[in-house]
Amino acid sequence: MGLKNTIFMVLVASLITKEVLATKHVVGGSQGWDASTDFNSWISGKTFKVGDQLVFKYSSLHSVVELGNESDYKNCDISTPLNSLSSGKDVVKLDKPSTRYLTCGTLGHCGQGMKVKITIAKGNASSSPSSSPSPLASPLASPLASPSSSSSSSSSTASSPGSVDASPASHSFVSLMTIVTLFVPMMFSLF
Ligand SMILES: *[C@@H]1O[C@H](CO)[C@@H](O)[C@H](O)[C@H]1NC(C)=O
Ligand SMILES: *[C@@H]1O[C@H](CO)[C@@H](O)[C@H](O)[C@H]1NC(C)=O
Repeated sequence: MGLKNTIFMVLVASLITKEVLATKHVVGGSQGWDASTDFNSWISGKTFKVGDQLVFKYSSLHSVVELGNESDYKNCDISTPLNSLSSGKDVVKLDKPSTRYLTCGTLGHCGQGMKVKITIAKGNASSSPSSSPSPLASPLASPLASPSSSSSSSSSTASSPGSVDASPASHSFVSLMTIVTLFVPMMFSLF
């Protein structure tokens, strides 16, 4: 009994911790920030939230250049960067919901695919599933990032009237469901 409870508590605690803690994303994984890394496959399935960090590890052949908009990113126009870094181990904080465009400042590397487009979801890394998302979150969102307006316009096609705001609530819902699916079988096993 005691052991089961302990295991259960550890499971729940680890789930919650995983939800709450900000994530450090090492860009490119073990291959790092390099021309040979496949950044499309690195990024697929990843989610980025406010409070997370990007870590760029690279040799002196490279650098990190942040671009201001999609068109510069698409055209690999690095002539007017927002920011550039070159320490070889740089950290970029994802401080607000927005889209960030990062590439390498070395001639030709952007064109070779050494670039990442990071979409940072709304919703607070430290918000718990029980507390409802605060409307105070919106003033922090930059006017560039308008996933709420686009999702509300597209939600007219989604038929269910019950589902209101997709982004922050669904995230909490998923983590709640994860806990419930673990919790229910554990409860039965106790009796
Ligand atoms: C993107 O940013 C660059 C540099 O700040 C600027 O010259 C360009 O007009 C911008 N393009 C768009 C589509 O906003
Ligand atoms: C996220 O939470 C922190 C404190 O935990 C708060 O300062 C910040 O304003 C929150 N951000 C958003 C977008 O709600």
